[in-house]
Amino acid sequence: MIPNSEFVTRRNRLLAQMAPNSVAIIPAANELTRSNDTEFPFRQNSDFQYLTNFPEPDAWLVLEKSLDTTSSTLVCRVKDKVAEIWQGRRIGAEVAKQQFEFDETFDESKLHSVLFTAINNTTILYWPQGESEANDKRIFDLLNELRTGPKKGWNAPTQISDPRPLIHEMRLFKSADEITVMKRAGVISSTAHKRAMLFAANLHKLKQPVTEFQLEAEIHHEFAMSGAKHPAYGTIVGGGENACILHYTENQDVIESGSLVLIDAGCELQGYAADITRTFPVSGKFSPEQKALYQLVLNTQVEVINNIKPGTTLKALTELSVRLITQGLVELNILEGDVTQLISHNAHRAFYMHGLAHWLGLDVHDVGDYNQAGAQRPLQAGMVFTVEPGIYIDSEANCEPKWHGIGIRIEDNILITETGYENLTITAPKSVEEIEALMQ
Ligand code: GLY
Ligand code: MN
Ligand code: MN
Repeated sequence: MIPNSEFVTRRNRLLAQMAPNSVAIIPAANELTRSNDTEFPFRQNSDFQYLTNFPEPDAWLVLEKSLDTTSSTLVCRVKDKVAEIWQGRRIGAEVAKQQFEFDETFDESKLHSVLFTAINNTTILYWPQGESEANDKRIFDLLNELRTGPKKGWNAPTQISDPRPLIHEMRLFKSADEITVMKRAGVISSTAHKRAMLFAANLHKLKQPVTEFQLEAEIHHEFAMSGAKHPAYGTIVGGGENACILHYTENQDVIESGSLVLIDAGCELQGYAADITRTFPVSGKFSPEQKALYQLVLNTQVEVINNIKPGTTLKALTELSVRLITQGLVELNILEGDVTQLISHNAHRAFYMHGLAHWLGLDVHDVGDYNQAGAQRPLQAGMVFTVEPGIYIDSEANCEPKWHGIGIRIEDNILITETGYENLTITAPKSVEEIEALMQ
């Protein structure tokens, strides 16, 4: 568990970066209707989560910085017996104040007056414009209201500034407690991938068909049994050619017994994502073509990971992956020509059409600038990102048909440390030998 004190520290760090005589307003997420009378599972807004740990919808964080004082206020849903009988418990302003260590808390009925007082006569309003039309309208109406009352001592701030770059820069560097949670998310998700491999092997031995949704169910079962109730993103289980659809989530087909299956799945634990991809033969045994391509992706991924250290850049690692994949595709006669020339024409894009890496944290594609001062930023301790090269050859690809219907991605989660890196998902099997041995 990330302790309360860390959320208080984060709020204070944001306040320290705000201009004097300013206010930051960060709203929680709202519930989303799925269909008549049912909602999607609630997921807190990641910035609000990062600064509060408050788990309910329809709440507002207000950070005020005057010339010499700061304060942190939460507005949340009102305690309501009937709503709590029908929809669920509410924490309420009184308990929230003490449990989450805010300076002040108010219930929703006071929202307008809290926002009005906090914004009035400040110079800068930090507001994450564009996330919710309803919230934008509330804030812009309130600014207009303030503009109507100069004689009453009302004044709207003259500047609106985006708080997200400040918050996202903080989120990019994970604390020791965040790393503990992300390591656990990595272990749970690795175990889930192993479970899917074993399940497929068992069904194959029983000569029963393996379906994509069964593997998805195995993965989600393992997540939940380990305390991670939700996946961090839509689980991808693509058998055969379905693996060539990068964000395939239909997961509804029977997997042909000679096929590879690509599973991209990670749990969400205390808000933090793991993001692992493994690809394995559903029968437990690679064919020669599958093995050749798999080994190329694996060698590339391992070589990239071996080159990770503080100071290097994701761009340098991406270029290394492109060189290795291009070279390997030439050796397998899938691409023809001079490797340097092919690289300069981005020839790999026909088979490796996505990026190598992305930041990972509260969001699976996490926030944080990839560039600084117009250049790729060097990797620094506390950053977490994925390494996920892949090769995808669908039935229309311009190469010998023996390669058709093979999609492979191998994805691990890497933490940069002071002296090197740590692979948070190392326990998910990925060598040919490991996978074949596990599935025997
Ligand atoms: N799971 C989505 C991705 O790997 O980026
Ligand atoms: Mn990823
Ligand atoms: Mn992924």
